[in-house]
Order: sequence, then C-alpha cells, then structure tokens
Amino acid sequence: MIPISFIASLTLIIFSVYKTPWTDNPIPVPRTDPKQCPLRSSGKTFTPLKGTKHLLVSAYMDQRVRGFDLRIIGIFRRDSIQALHCLFCCRDNVTTKATILPHPDNFGFPYVTTDVMCALPKGCSSKHVSLLTDQDNWRHSEQMWLPIRNLKTEETSDKRFSFTVCISTVFGRYNNVLQFAQSLEMYRLLGVNRVVVYNTSCGPELDQLLHSYSQEDFVEIVPWPIDEHLTPSYGWLHSESGGDVHYFGQQTSLNDCIYRSMERSRYVLLNDIDEIIMPYQQSGLVPLMDILQKQHPDAGVFMIENHIFPKKHFEPSGKFNRSQWNKVPGVNILEHIYREDPDRNVYHPYKLIIQPRMVEQTSIHEVLKIFGTQVPVKVPPDVCRTIHTRVALRGDLTLEQLEEDKRLWDFSEKLIPCVDKALRKAGLLDTKDGHKGG
Ligand SMILES: *[C@@H]1O[C@H](CO)[C@@H](O)[C@H](O)[C@H]1NC(C)=O
Ligand SMILES: *[C@@H]1O[C@H](CO)[C@@H](O)[C@H](O)[C@H]1NC(C)=O
Ligand SMILES: *[C@@H]1O[C@H](CO)[C@@H](O)[C@H](O)[C@H]1NC(C)=O
Repeated sequence: MIPISFIASLTLIIFSVYKTPWTDNPIPVPRTDPKQCPLRSSGKTFTPLKGTKHLLVSAYMDQRVRGFDLRIIGIFRRDSIQALHCLFCCRDNVTTKATILPHPDNFGFPYVTTDVMCALPKGCSSKHVSLLTDQDNWRHSEQMWLPIRNLKTEETSDKRFSFTVCISTVFGRYNNVLQFAQSLEMYRLLGVNRVVVYNTSCGPELDQLLHSYSQEDFVEIVPWPIDEHLTPSYGWLHSESGGDVHYFGQQTSLNDCIYRSMERSRYVLLNDIDEIIMPYQQSGLVPLMDILQKQHPDAGVFMIENHIFPKKHFEPSGKFNRSQWNKVPGVNILEHIYREDPDRNVYHPYKLIIQPRMVEQTSIHEVLKIFGTQVPVKVPPDVCRTIHTRVALRGDLTLEQLEEDKRLWDFSEKLIPCVDKALRKAGLLDTKDGHKGG
C-alpha cells in the first residue's frame, strides 16, 4: 500500500512543476520565449475558446484576402459572437484585431462554421496563434495555442496530389464496410491520391478497415469527437431535428479539408462515402479535368449532378453476388445498376470538384465564396455524374421507370481484386474464401 499522504505530496510536486511557469512567475510566454507556445497547444481537433461557447478547429496561413495573413476555422455560437484579438508568439506587439466571418448557411442551428481572420504583426513569424476576448489580458491567457498550418516553409508547398476526396463526418457507429471499401478502391482506380475521413464514430468492422487503410498514405483519418463538446444533429434542418450543429459539423469539416489540402492537392472532391464522382466518357479524373479545364480555363468549381441508384433493386444475373462478400456488412454497389432520373422540378443537389486555392468558404452542395469572376460550371451528366447507391429517393418509381446504368461494371475486373485485398488486409475476409475469389 502506498500511503495517501505520499500520493498527495507527489501530486502536489507534479502540479507545482507544471503550474509554476504559467501562474506564479510573470508569464514568460510569449514575449521572452516563443519556443514555449507549442507547449500549450492541445493537439486535439477541438479547442474550446476560453471564456466563450466557441470551438476552434484549425489555423491556416492564407494570404489570399487583402490585409490578412491567416484564417482560423471554428464553430461559433451565433448568439454570443464578440470582438476577439489574435495573439501571436512573438517578441513585439503580439496582438492584432480579429475579423470574424460566420458562414451564411446555418440552417437555423445555434452553432455555425466561422472563420476568424488575422493579420500577422510586422516582423512576426509566429508558428502559433491564439485568440483573446480581452486584448490586455494576454499575460494571463490560459488559452491553448493552435499551430499555424500551410506555412510556406513546409515541404508540403509543392503540390504532391492531383485529387483528394474529403469525406465529412462518419458518425452513428456507421458500419457499411463493403460499400466503404468499394468506394475507396473506385476512387483509387479513378486517380484519387488521398482520402481524408473525419471520424466521429464507426462500427467495429469499419474501425478495423479504417485502421488498416490508415497504415498506408492513401487514407488520412481526422478524429472528430464533436459529440464531446456539442449535441450534434442527425439532420440538416434545425427546425426538424434540433441539436446544436448541422450534421455533426459536416460543413466545418469540409472547410477544414479544403484548407488542409490547399498546398498539396490540385483538386478536391467534396462527396460522401456512398457517392462516386464518375466520369462517363473518360477513364478517370485526370483526363476528365484536362478536358473540362480546357473548356473552362478560369473555372475552379465544377458541379456534378447527384444520381441515385436505389439499393432495393438488384441486377438479375447475380454475377457480382460473391459468397466471399456475404459476411462483410454493407451494400455491394456492383449489384445496383438502376438509376433514378432526378426530379428536375425540385431542387437538385450537386457534389463538387474544386480547386482549393480558388475557394474561400464552402457549403455541402455549393461553394459560398470564391475568388475572381469565375462562375461554377455545371457539368453535363453524360460527361460526369455522381453514382450514389442508397435508399431510393423517388421510392414510388417502378423498376421500369429507372435507367439501367452499368458504368461501374467497366471497372469490376480491376475493382474486385483490390477490394478483396483491402478486406483481407483488414482481416475481414476468410482466407479460404478469399483465395477462391482470387
Ligand atoms: C499594438 O497593437 C494595437 C492594435 O493591434 C495598437 O493599438 C497599438 O498601438 C500597438 N502598439 C504598439 C506599441 O505598436
Ligand atoms: C473513430 O472514432 C471512434 C470514437 O472516437 C474510435 O473509437 C475509433 O477507433 C475511431 N476509428 C478510427 C479508424 O480512427
Ligand atoms: C446472393 O447469394 C446468396 C446465396 O449465395 C443468396 O442467399 C442471396 O439471396 C443472393 N442475393 C441476391 C440479391 O440475389
């Protein structure tokens, strides 16, 4: 048994060691020793802003808007937005006034994606930033610092990727493993180099698959524990589903993904995991964008029509009903070849291919702020459309009223072995069965 008093004094010692630099002495941060700022960065995705109800997510160098040097992305409570000051880890004047830009699309929720724009003080090359509610209080601020990403000195400044897919917020113990693996491997066949997945929660088999994928460079997982800070909504409209924030903070994650990709990816695709942005006349995304960009040299936003393939209708031959996959939870997209024609009398959602450097703020189906005079390009569906395998949207349509579309089958010979390999690597395929399928 260890005496309680010993533990108590040990705790006290540890506490003092950690506590001393920030409280008892005149605070050495940030004037005297800029190196100490990173010691107080949280390393977590969400950093609560002390003295407010807001959450900070990330800070990015961004000199595209005149007068500003960086953009902090956060989730702010709309009814209590107050003046803020940007604090930098530098020797001279350390604060500048912040400009707060809540995104216009809040769907009635109390919390909204918000950008905080800061200018760097002259001669300051801080690698960290923090925010203050009281400009004079910086000596006593206990606010965590955020590392500033996309600094020009980073090696990431040469664009390494052509295409990045941003998958916003996996939540609700999502476990559609087969479709997840099929979509990821289809993206790869189409020329995607990186998939960023924001993870709030997933089912056990999907967790296995994602851990296996994240061991290679292809998939980047961003922890997104928004449910530890807010009550996220399962819907898109506050009046219908309540909660603090739209769909687990989907918009915030997409905006973060654009900035995360800005210095390293030529294009970013904003679609869900049950959607594949599919060229119908070219073999992949590289030749597709070559052609589209030639037709629209100034465009940086391409809108792709969403087309639903109801999962209740199976193709009749059963040629892709593979016994190897029957034990894997989820939808087999190769079995669903009937396409709903969108009802063009109602609002029709698009998914987006963008050049991140041309976009300032985005929503889900459209961008909110772009640079220059470009107009978003609506890509004709015979050139490219989103294959979205899910429950029917127009459930009253009979099979005869749907279009047969076997575009995915053009890739089946390459796709099946890739999916098998990924599932096997994740331990989700019986080895015996796996060999049979080859
Ligand atoms: C420091 O910055 C504030 C505003 O950001 C300004 O009002 C003040 O004059 C500056 N002080 C010095 C010494 O530069
Ligand atoms: C996703 O998030 C949940 C909840 O935090 C966690 O249990 C799970 O391991 C995460 N999965 C991956 C692949 O990061
Ligand atoms: C797929 O095959 C299994 C038997 O191997 C069968 O039970 C199942 O009904 C088939 N699914 C479809 C959609 O035909």
